[in-house]
Amino acid sequence: NVRMILDVDTGIDDSMAILLALKTKHIKVEGITTVFGNTDVVQATRNTLQVIELSGVPYEVPVAMGAARPLYRDWKGPVTHIHGDNGIGNCELPEPKGKAIPESASDFIVRMVNENPHELTFVFVGRMTNLALALAKDPTIASKVKRLVIMGGAVKVPGNVTPAAEANIYGDPEAAHRVFESGIPITLVGLDVTMKTIIGEEHRLDLMAAPIPGNERAAAYIGEAFQFYFGAYDKQNGFYGAPLHDPLAVAVAAYPDLITTEDHYIRIETKGTMSYGATLADLRRSVEVTNTAVGVDVDSPRFLDYFINTLKS
Ligand code: BDR
Ligand code: CA
Repeated sequence: NVRMILDVDTGIDDSMAILLALKTKHIKVEGITTVFGNTDVVQATRNTLQVIELSGVPYEVPVAMGAARPLYRDWKGPVTHIHGDNGIGNCELPEPKGKAIPESASDFIVRMVNENPHELTFVFVGRMTNLALALAKDPTIASKVKRLVIMGGAVKVPGNVTPAAEANIYGDPEAAHRVFESGIPITLVGLDVTMKTIIGEEHRLDLMAAPIPGNERAAAYIGEAFQFYFGAYDKQNGFYGAPLHDPLAVAVAAYPDLITTEDHYIRIETKGTMSYGATLADLRRSVEVTNTAVGVDVDSPRFLDYFINTLKS
């Protein structure tokens, strides 16, 4: 079993990552922490609670609210053109019955890692502010995290917010810098691989068709949210479909052999003007020490099968 802590800025693809994690039989989600990003942290927390309830997961999942802004910089505001005004493509889900726990995300992370040393897999699919704060509170957690899978960065491919940077790193580069320097074993699921996992209209229709009894609401949400997301990518990139960024990170935590990786020493550019937020690898391979297994290729058909079958289950 993969015991997982998932950190999200829910977000359409975040919501699909949550559903994938909760519906994968050999993943136990030990907690979900939230952060600003696609939307503000209060909205991200609300969306997260709603998606958990939508999933029908048979166990309690604690949700801990985290950072509302980057470590040192101003937050640039929600990404409404991709994720809608409410973060989940303007879909309306029932009022959540649950609440976030009183503990902050970083306190929750510190406590959980100390209570379960070498047991927990972290999957971070938003800005890494909560983990940076947790590391500042207790640096010893770095050696007690089993594995950290990050959706973020663009190592050999262009960025998506600037030519050099991907959104999750660009959104708080100083936090990312601290995490990459922490010594936690990192697997990077960046644009190098996520841009190869395109879900299209035939998959969307498949996800919505003949939902199993009890799953009608989830199927309708998945269909509507993807419709918004595809439309946004269509306007931006000229194709009706979208990359499954955040679900791929969850998938890699569940099935590491879905991607092939190269070991690199990744450093985060925090001072550049045009290169600010870049995930820089020394592709000359002149460094002996590495800190990250960088995803460079992915078995997309296998991943898409797993994603669709699991969401339909
Ligand atoms: C990342 O940015 C966010 O918009 C998505 O949720 C994903 O985590 C992709 O760059
Ligand atoms: Ca995200």
